[in-house]
Amino acid sequence: MAFSMYSYSLLLIVALVLLTINPINSTSSKHKHHNHGVKSLHFSLFQHETINKTGFVIVNGVTGPGISQTTLPFGTIFAFNDPMTTAPNPSSKIVGFAEGNSITSSFDGLRSISIAKITLSMKKHKGSLSIVGGTHNTKPADHPVVGGTGDFLFVQGYVTSSPVDLVGLAVTYKIEFHLYWPPYATKASS
Ligand SMILES: *[C@@H]1O[C@H](CO)[C@@H](O)[C@H](O)[C@H]1NC(C)=O
Repeated sequence: MAFSMYSYSLLLIVALVLLTINPINSTSSKHKHHNHGVKSLHFSLFQHETINKTGFVIVNGVTGPGISQTTLPFGTIFAFNDPMTTAPNPSSKIVGFAEGNSITSSFDGLRSISIAKITLSMKKHKGSLSIVGGTHNTKPADHPVVGGTGDFLFVQGYVTSSPVDLVGLAVTYKIEFHLYWPPYATKASS
């Protein structure tokens, strides 16, 4: 008798748990479905940086390794205005510029905090994106997109920056854009 009472309450608990889980499941799938209405855009460009031509050390850092192809002393303030092209070759079509600065933030001189405004003039999309985040001089890094202007008004997402060629005075990074417009962005532009 006691056992069956026990198993009855156990059933009740299981039923309650199932009831509680189910609404959560349906809410998240509804959320997913809702996300299908979000406009997104994925493409890649190549950023070209030439030391003392498009990228400069503005303030020398205070400690850590010296200035090299891949390291800057801790605290170095670096400013850049780099062309962005459609292909790895620097003489391929320029469709934008990345203007910004970075401050070396790791004592090994390899990481920095970067802020940048990327102005793009592509066939179907013109405007700017603002990005901010930590970057690594020799490894890929993701930077959150914090907003934009023009066709990129209210845009969200991230860009992945990966070194392509770090040898020589001109270095090249591949920038992969993963952009998402929230529903209210399309309402604002129409
Ligand atoms: C860039 O300019 C600075 C300051 O004039 C100079 O010290 C440095 O050697 C230059 N770097 C290169 C790679 O030419």
